[in-house]
Amino acid sequence: MTIKLELLENKQYQPFIKWVGGKRGLLEQLIPLFPNDFANYYEPFVGGGAVFFELYSRGLLDNEHIYLSDINSELINTYKIVRDNPNELIRNLKTYKEKHSKEFYYKIRELDRDNNFDKLSDIEKATRFIYLNKTCFNGLYRVNKKGYFNTPIGSYKNPNIADSDVILSASEALQDVEILQQSFKEILKQAKQSDLVYFDPPYYPLNETSNFTSYDSNCFLEDKQFELFEVFDKLADKKVNVLHSNSDTTFIKELYQKQNNLADWQKFITHLQQDYRQLPALQDEIKKAGLLQ
Ligand SMILES: C[S@@+](CC[C@H](N)C(=O)[O-])C[C@H]1O[C@@H](n2cnc3c(N)ncnc32)[C@H](O)[C@@H]1O
Repeated sequence: MTIKLELLENKQYQPFIKWVGGKRGLLEQLIPLFPNDFANYYEPFVGGGAVFFELYSRGLLDNEHIYLSDINSELINTYKIVRDNPNELIRNLKTYKEKHSKEFYYKIRELDRDNNFDKLSDIEKATRFIYLNKTCFNGLYRVNKKGYFNTPIGSYKNPNIADSDVILSASEALQDVEILQQSFKEILKQAKQSDLVYFDPPYYPLNETSNFTSYDSNCFLEDKQFELFEVFDKLADKKVNVLHSNSDTTFIKELYQKQNNLADWQKFITHLQQDYRQLPALQDEIKKAGLLQ
């Protein structure tokens, strides 16, 4: 009995997709920045959900209501199917795995160009979404101006298309989670005092060549970063705990430092550089400034 309990406690939940900007490689640095005590948990740019699955694995969300959202409707549909219908999803993915080839990839990729795409069921769309994610170049979700998925096939020898263990455990973690397709701005109406909101937006480009910010044909440049800052600031005023990751760039630093009232411990920001080497130093700075409880 003791052994079984221990195994359950150590269960590791993880993302069921790869996602550009995913925070899997940064969890050890990020998680200590989270406050221990908060009411509801909100992640309005959930992407692959690396932070949510880690917090869940560590039992840090046991008593909280959890709200995960993202603007990407295909992604959110897939989260709902993983939560509500994982077994049928796995069966479909196993069929896709058997059929996988270059021809099959492009046949499935082109489905959104067809007028009947909207007639596909939610489960068919989720199967397509995971299949493309596991077999396309670098798991990159990229659509053209018309909204058609256009990432080429990747060069994997044996892509793990139907990862049943990961999907079933993700489904377990998502059982009581509210999953919403919405813009980050909606959070203003939802989060209340003592809740925790973790913002992980598309990062502001570090330089002219690293300007990949268009996850959903929406760029996330100065205007959107500014809108996000306003949301962040209003939430902090309402005494919501807010945590934000972004690139370590002059634009982002100036935007947040303008406030210059970081003495309020709820207002802190982690500046992440693309190679993330600066994060431990920033963490020390944040601790020294007494911004962590
Ligand atoms: C850096 S990724 C999040 C990565 C995630 N934390 C992870 O570990 O996988 C940014 C996410 O923001 C979403 N996004 C872009 N614009 C948005 C908006 N206006 N409102 C909400 N989500 C948005 C994208 O679809 C993408 O999933």
